Amino acid sequence: MTTVEGVLPEGAIIDWDALRAEAITAMKNAYAPYSKYAVGAAAFTADGRLVSGCNVENASYGLTLCAECALVGNLHMTGGGQLRAFYCVDAAGNVLMPCGRCRQLLHEFRAPGMELMTTQGIRTMDQVLPDAFGPQHLED
Ligand code: THU
Repeated sequence: MTTVEGVLPEGAIIDWDALRAEAITAMKNAYAPYSKYAVGAAAFTADGRLVSGCNVENASYGLTLCAECALVGNLHMTGGGQLRAFYCVDAAGNVLMPCGRCRQLLHEFRAPGMELMTTQGIRTMDQVLPDAFGPQHLED
C-alpha cells in the first residue's frame, strides 16, 4: 500500500508499541482517588496525530470521566478528525477493554476499519461494538 508520511489509511501498519507507550504516559496523569484505578488511553488519528486521555473521577462518583472521554475531547481540541487505532491501559500497563459507554464514544469518531488493541488481540470497532447506533440513524 502507498502511504503518505504521517497519514494512516485503512490497512496501514500501526505502531502498537508507540500507542501503548503513549497510553501509559497518559495513565500517569489519572485522577482516580476514589477507585484508585488509573486508566490511560491513546489513539492515532487517520491523519497521523497522537491523541490521549486519562480518567478523571469526582466526589460525586457517577460523574467520573473515563479516559476515553478525555481522549475524544483531546481529538477535537487538536483538530478533530477520525480515530484510526486505539489502545487503553490500566495502572500496570496491561491492555484494557473500553467500557460499553466508551465504545459508543469511540464509535462516533471511528475511521473506516478502526482497530483497537484488546485482551483478545487486535479487533475492529465493528467487532467490539456490533450493530452500533450511530450518526447514520439520525440522517433522515
Ligand atoms: N475507566 C476508564 O477510564 N475507561 C474505561 O473504559 C473503563 C473504566 C475508569 C473509570 C473509573 O475512574 C475507573 O476506571 C474505575 O471504574
